[in-house]
Amino acid sequence: MSVPCNIVILTGAGCSAESGIDTFRDGGGLWEQHRVEDVATPEAYERDPDLVLRFYDMRRAAIQTKKPNAAHHALARLEREWWQGQRGNVTLITQNVDDLHDRAGSKNLIHMHGEHLSAWCGACDARHHWNDMLIDRPACPACGARALRPDIVWFGEMPYRMDEIHDALRQCDIFVSIGTSGAVYPAAGFVRLAREMGAHCLELNLERSQGSAWFHESRFGAATKIVSEWVADKLAN
Ligand code: NAD
Ligand code: APR
Repeated sequence: MSVPCNIVILTGAGCSAESGIDTFRDGGGLWEQHRVEDVATPEAYERDPDLVLRFYDMRRAAIQTKKPNAAHHALARLEREWWQGQRGNVTLITQNVDDLHDRAGSKNLIHMHGEHLSAWCGACDARHHWNDMLIDRPACPACGARALRPDIVWFGEMPYRMDEIHDALRQCDIFVSIGTSGAVYPAAGFVRLAREMGAHCLELNLERSQGSAWFHESRFGAATKIVSEWVADKLAN
């Protein structure tokens, strides 16, 4: 068996853009339609829970009409065939709260900013798979309290599974960032840790990002094209 080569992949909103899900900071992006302060902070939820719940109910319904694109499917194929070929691990970290990687078949997947199909009970801390509205204040299946909120990490909150993420970055040989602007930490800092650990760092994006200088290599183009090409090349060599 050859020496294992562990790959860590970070995806951002650009990976889902061609599935029809708005990114955040591109022209017409979500943060041009809604202010972060109104819908994506704990203070916003405290101030006007109905506005926040309606926003995420609307986003959940919209996302459910979308489908994984060629980039999502290519990443799921890479994980499957890399493992079957005993070539090492593929860990996929996504900042996206949509379930397109899940539906494409990715298994070793970390949703660091939470998931739009999950609800979190403020009374008992239980999390539930949730594909329904929250605006009507449904009862928590575990404790009955009407305290369910979107299980999404808002600005100022800590992302999920950071220990696992740091472990994967410390052991990775290749770090690939796909479709993220590098505007939000700690995700934007992952490339630096990977590089310090000696990983080869590759950026796949439509254009340069705020973190481009940290990558050994950048390839520009639409994710459905350049991610599929990169995966095909990795599996062939
Ligand atoms: P941050 O300061 O790292 O965010 C940097 C960028 O996010 C800013 O450049 C801006 O583009 C945007 N941003 C952040 N707060 C904003 C605001 N109040 N108004 C407008 N734009 C804003 O983010 P942070 O507040 O330090 O958040 C840190 C934690 O929150 C991190 O753990 C991050 O993972 C998490 N987070 C989650 C989400 C989400 O929507 N799931 C979004 C951002 C951050
Ligand atoms: N193919 C590849 N990259 C693309 C495509 C595409 N078709 N379309 C857009 N992009 C790139 C843009 O060039 C940009 O660099 O995707 C990136 C989108 O950046 P953002 O909108 O800032 O999204 P993201 O980086 O995921 O935001 C990080 O900020 O608001 C929070 O929680 C939110 O997780 C998100 C975090």
